[in-house]
Amino acid sequence: MSVSIGTKAADHADAPAVVMRGITKRFPGVVALADVTLEVRRGELHAICGENGAGKSTLMKILSGVYQPDEGTLEIGGVPARFTGTRDAEKAGIAIIHQELALVEDLSVAANVFLGREKRTALGLLDDRSMHDECGRLLESLECPVSPATRTGGLRVGDQQLVEIAKALSLDASIVVMDEPTSALTESESARLERTIKRLLAAGTTILYISHKMDEVFRLADRITVLRDGRHVRTVNRVDTSPRQITSWMVGRELADHEFRQARTRGPTLLEVRGLTLPWPDHPRGYRLSNVSFDLHAGEILGVAGLMGAGRTELLETIFGAGEPTWTGEIRLDGKPVRFHHPREACDARIAMVTEDRKRLGLFPDLDVAGNVSLCSLSEALRGGFLSRRREEDLVAGPIRDTGVKTPGPHAAITGLSGGNQQKCIIGRWLLTKPAILLLDDPTRGIDVGAKAELYALIDRLCREGLGVILTSSELPELLTLADRIIVLAEGRLTAEFARAEATEQKIIEAATGG
Ligand SMILES: Nc1ncnc2c1ncn2[C@@H]1O[C@H](COP(=O)(O)OP(=O)(O)OP(=O)(O)O)[C@@H](O)[C@H]1O
Ligand SMILES: [Mg+2]
Repeated sequence: MSVSIGTKAADHADAPAVVMRGITKRFPGVVALADVTLEVRRGELHAICGENGAGKSTLMKILSGVYQPDEGTLEIGGVPARFTGTRDAEKAGIAIIHQELALVEDLSVAANVFLGREKRTALGLLDDRSMHDECGRLLESLECPVSPATRTGGLRVGDQQLVEIAKALSLDASIVVMDEPTSALTESESARLERTIKRLLAAGTTILYISHKMDEVFRLADRITVLRDGRHVRTVNRVDTSPRQITSWMVGRELADHEFRQARTRGPTLLEVRGLTLPWPDHPRGYRLSNVSFDLHAGEILGVAGLMGAGRTELLETIFGAGEPTWTGEIRLDGKPVRFHHPREACDARIAMVTEDRKRLGLFPDLDVAGNVSLCSLSEALRGGFLSRRREEDLVAGPIRDTGVKTPGPHAAITGLSGGNQQKCIIGRWLLTKPAILLLDDPTRGIDVGAKAELYALIDRLCREGLGVILTSSELPELLTLADRIIVLAEGRLTAEFARAEATEQKIIEAATGG
């Protein structure tokens, strides 16, 4: 890092916290950023909005030393800086919470928080005690109930995200970058994070905040910058704009309001779940799911609401044969009792599932985009035992188009795609298997507003063609928009069921909190 030494910090007291000037960054086949200039004031929360692939994460990775720009300059607090790695940025007081979680699963929570900056005793030994204590304090300030000694890999995504946040906070940075920090959090956890954010701002921290959730952006931001296709579109004061305007700058056109109020026709019963119970040994509650019963019909979308830990993911995983095999009760598919021991068996029975945690369960980094999309439909691409490239390309063209994946081509590396576009690939993969039942566990996590609307329209169309969908979402408006019926889980029990017409956010939250 080059810092002009000799200039007194006082000279720069009025300088912006961050100035990125004329930043250009190219990757093979794409210009991720083209001549972007961004100025961030001290102590403000500056939101960055843009569609999937607009360049938001790339810009923040440049600010935090992960990538070096091809062109352009960086100034931190009025001082020119050039980062050759994340350590340089950390030294300059910049911490980043990455969109794709980067924790070491086999290490404890505390070890992850202090990774590479381990605390040592006077004798040079690892000071586990003090790391444990400090980590505990950080987690407590985030109101996160996880113990610092827990193995990180065993945590659910939402908790892992809180660990990432604790890690960034432990750096005591003056500039904190949050790349979609709430995408895996439930509403109540997001509210907790918002309290932390307000504390940081009150203490003078500058925050850069990426989110696809407009309500969040409009609650928190002082100013908003919009990127489109790697270019800077606008920077505005929050009070001078509206969500609608931001969205239209993001997509470059006015978005039509998608309404799915037109009733769907309920077909025959596809799935019956009766008295489903999933034990939870060594936990005071004793079960993850208790006596859950419901039906799913062809042509309908059944929403499952609940707080984190309510058992939504477990419910879907159990049906899909991806969870603990210790469940009791009955699952009937087309009237016949079934018990899947592996997702493969569920796939053969024409059930598909889009998981909430794409990195751990869904994405194959060694396969390209086409490989990831065609993965579960390979028999269709195989000819005489050989995988024909042409056949594969034909096969994946439809789902890539329908889900709106933005990629330089079918054979681009999946790891080069933006977070939201990776998620679209996984949805495309499952659509390609032409399932009768689709289980969607928070499917639009990290997907931009425009793409979301298109995805909703796609799901709606497939339902009208007879697909049965079970959908969970961390965003209630999404369930209220899409679902025909909503069941609510609270601590593993089914506490309410609402028809679309009678469901409101208020009623659902009451049922979800057991109030
Ligand atoms: N490591 C990489 N290799 C190749 N291409 C990349 C890489 N990182 C980003 N890109 C490309 O750069 C562009 C911008 O990606 P970026 O991740 O910054 O988007 P984003 O705005 O954060 O999107 P999202 O909302 O989906 O997270 C995309 O076209 C993406 O495919
Ligand atoms: Mg991103």
